[in-house]
Amino acid sequence: MRIAVFASGNGSNFEALMAAEKNGELSSGKIALLVSDNPSCRAIIRAERRGVETCILKARDFKTREEYDKAILKKLGEKNIELVLLAGFMRVFSSSFFTDKYKNKIINIHPSLLPAFKGAHGIRDAYNSGVKVTGVTVHFVEEELDSGPIILQEKVYRENSETLESLEEKIHNVEHKLYPKVARLLVDGKIKINGRKVMIVI
Ligand code: GRF
Repeated sequence: MRIAVFASGNGSNFEALMAAEKNGELSSGKIALLVSDNPSCRAIIRAERRGVETCILKARDFKTREEYDKAILKKLGEKNIELVLLAGFMRVFSSSFFTDKYKNKIINIHPSLLPAFKGAHGIRDAYNSGVKVTGVTVHFVEEELDSGPIILQEKVYRENSETLESLEEKIHNVEHKLYPKVARLLVDGKIKINGRKVMIVI
């Protein structure tokens, strides 16, 4: 199954997915494309190092969000992409991005236990709120931000001595294991969706 990863920044989740593929942990999943909106992001360097093709689309080169999204879909079609993994992609899609072809084939990882702490600062917002437990969520992507059906979640405890930096590190470590695990389940067809409920069938 051909996979595209979308990233705008550091790309540590992208790296974890590529490492998992290399170690045979993605089953028949093959990361065939990195899509980015940020030409100077570290994720692109990581892709080049591992020989993964990149597609860089800058927002300012497109008049509307719809045109941008159509250009992405065209590229995904050309590359026969069947599964899209968002990993720190900082753009919101227009409704034209959500076609039947990719229904339940676009996934995201979010650094909190959704539906708590949606948005761009999930770790910091959880930390500042004083919750004792936060974590990581992998979910299907729908038009409304951070709101699609949840596939898997893993909790992370906030210790008394926790700093924002130490919490970030713990969350990212969990992400780097959880995302490849979910990717493999998807590749192997072991995830069934029924409305809001997602089941893992082993
Ligand atoms: C991760 O925390 C992910 O949950 C969120 O964006 C961050 C991306 O980090 N959606 P990286 O670029 O993979 O290092």
